[in-house]
Amino acid sequence: MYSLIRPLFFALDAERSHDLTLGLLRAAYRAPGARSLVRRCYADCTPPLPVEVMGLRFPNPVGLAAGLDKEARCLTPLHDFGFGFLELGTVTPQPQPGNPKPRLFRLTHHAAIINRMGFNSSGLDAFLANLAAQPRRGLIGINLGKNKLTPDAQAIDDYLTGLRAVYTHADYVTLNISSPNTPGLRALQDEAPLAALLSALKHEQGLLARTHGHHVPIAIKVAPDLDDSGIDTIARLLVAHNIDGVIATNTTIMRPGLEQEPQAREAGGLSGPPLRTLSTQVIRRLYATLQGRIPIIGVGGIGSSDDAWEKLVAGADLIQLYTAFIYQGPGVLAEIVRGLAEKVHAHGCTCLADALRHARAV
Ligand SMILES: Cc1cc2nc3c(=O)[nH]c(=O)nc-3n(C[C@H](O)[C@H](O)[C@H](O)COP(=O)(O)O)c2cc1C
Repeated sequence: MYSLIRPLFFALDAERSHDLTLGLLRAAYRAPGARSLVRRCYADCTPPLPVEVMGLRFPNPVGLAAGLDKEARCLTPLHDFGFGFLELGTVTPQPQPGNPKPRLFRLTHHAAIINRMGFNSSGLDAFLANLAAQPRRGLIGINLGKNKLTPDAQAIDDYLTGLRAVYTHADYVTLNISSPNTPGLRALQDEAPLAALLSALKHEQGLLARTHGHHVPIAIKVAPDLDDSGIDTIARLLVAHNIDGVIATNTTIMRPGLEQEPQAREAGGLSGPPLRTLSTQVIRRLYATLQGRIPIIGVGGIGSSDDAWEKLVAGADLIQLYTAFIYQGPGVLAEIVRGLAEKVHAHGCTCLADALRHARAV
């Protein structure tokens, strides 16, 4: 079905088409029977493949990556497509418009996207109001960013504000320190600023856990453009600060294999297949240090069960996708989960964790 409507959406400007699609989805869900039809076509065709990560039980390991539902407006339809979890945001403390348009570009020959959205966000209050207006259907991560106008020296305060605001609404929280579109943000991945950030956020997490009586995991989202020593430093700090998870990776500022593509000159972060190998390399390098002590959520260029398996065998415990959802539509979920379930059985195992232990030992 998606292949029939995709040309219509792709004929429009990329950002308009994105907003229109989410709007239409919300509108369609007001029609009687729409929800059960979507569930029948998608969620019901997605086999269970449960996995326990960060103390949470995920119905399957394939999540929606941050950036598609920045305002938390489309939870029920997205869950009904069969995602094992949704990562919402990035949300910034205060509302901000993001970068001037156009800021979203499709590189259709490569099934890729370049974006320089720049954390367009309605801010925490509006985000939480949207969340409160919808029933909880499944696991939710909330991805936090800093406002562009917040001086770098006060970046930690923005993440603390975010953590306090979303703590009781999220199953896990992501600190996004790797978007290439907010000046200075990626410098938070350097040793001293990262140590300060992790220490402050970990302390606050402890206080919030005591106040609310439950622990909400914190994951750090990293860039694919780090060198090996940068990755090793991050891995060491994650262990030292007992961080709950790491998401690898965000979009890349590099343009691998896109030398002949005029649109590749647009500034911003690249996602989709050209990112796949880079992000898998980061996962493999992180895993070499972490050795399973801290779970990895693998993201970057996943569009098939083989891509997903590559990330999992490299060290990921869960995976996420965004760009393949735009190019292939919601059917890609069931296809990937089905393919993973087949690989688990082919290893003679009944659960993903056992199959991965086998596959990683080879
Ligand atoms: C249009 C667009 C907007 C994005 N916005 C965010 C964001 O707000 N926060 C974030 O952490 N990642 C954001 N991302 C990055 C994705 O979450 C993901 O890390 C990246 O796209 C790689 O996955 P993919 O190749 O499956 O798309 C965005 C990606 C795209 C394409």
